[in-house]
Amino acid sequence: MDKIALAINYLKYRKLRTNEHGIHSPFVFSLYNHVFKNASSYYAYTAVEAVRSRLSADKRIVRVKDLGAGSGHNQGKERTVSGILRTAVKSPKYSQLLFRLVNYFQPDTILELGTSLGISTMYLAIARSKSTVTTIEGCPETRRIALENFASLGLPNIRSLEGNFDSELPEALQSLNTLDLVFFDGNHRKSATLSYFEQCLEKANNESIFIFDDIYWSKEMTEAWELIKAHPKVKVTIDIFQLGIVFFRKEQVKQHFVLSY
Ligand SMILES: C[S@@+](CC[C@H](N)C(=O)[O-])C[C@H]1O[C@@H](n2cnc3c(N)ncnc32)[C@H](O)[C@@H]1O
Repeated sequence: MDKIALAINYLKYRKLRTNEHGIHSPFVFSLYNHVFKNASSYYAYTAVEAVRSRLSADKRIVRVKDLGAGSGHNQGKERTVSGILRTAVKSPKYSQLLFRLVNYFQPDTILELGTSLGISTMYLAIARSKSTVTTIEGCPETRRIALENFASLGLPNIRSLEGNFDSELPEALQSLNTLDLVFFDGNHRKSATLSYFEQCLEKANNESIFIFDDIYWSKEMTEAWELIKAHPKVKVTIDIFQLGIVFFRKEQVKQHFVLSY
């Protein structure tokens, strides 16, 4: 998406977004107040941000193998770890929101598509040590750095898989009975996003949470997001521009929220 289209989408978002005063669903109202507006500082933030800070000074060279849409211009290029951190990794604001979502909903089985250096993975895993976080990454050299990071925090509940989502996801899903939370953060193509969504849906339960990154990053991603919202099994969605969050709770009225964050 060109910058003008992105800016137009952002202006639309700003016009539509609301805060707690515009939320009439008790489920979303409580979620908004406890998770989105929660400004507490958790010890886990300090631990993961110390890793981020170390990576920001890491000038080691990584040969990038990117199998998705998102950073095609970096294909096969050598990049520094700090450069990857700057362009591909969720900021503290959004990765800490992932932490709080896990802390609030206490999911047991978590899946992440797109590990990169493992910052979001660590936030997902540290929020609930009893959970298992399966994370998939297609770039071997980037994944190697993520594994170092996981070891440095001593997080035993991360299962890291290497390979293309197209082949790894079906295999990973075979080994999982259910999916409580999925973070889709790689390969921002419409057909790929919808295919990963449909595959994960097979393992979704009534309480599952699916989180999509960069829903307005491209025309394709915006179209994918609209189709996901319209899916008959999707009940509640929350759009915070950078992320789209999906719930399947049968007891809820179908409703789409655009919230300030
Ligand atoms: C935006 S980054 C993930 C950032 C990470 N979740 C974080 O915030 O800390 C996306 C990652 O997905 C990986 N990726 C993209 N398409 C892929 C595919 N088809 N198969 C496997 N990995 C893929 C890329 O190599 C990249 O490291």
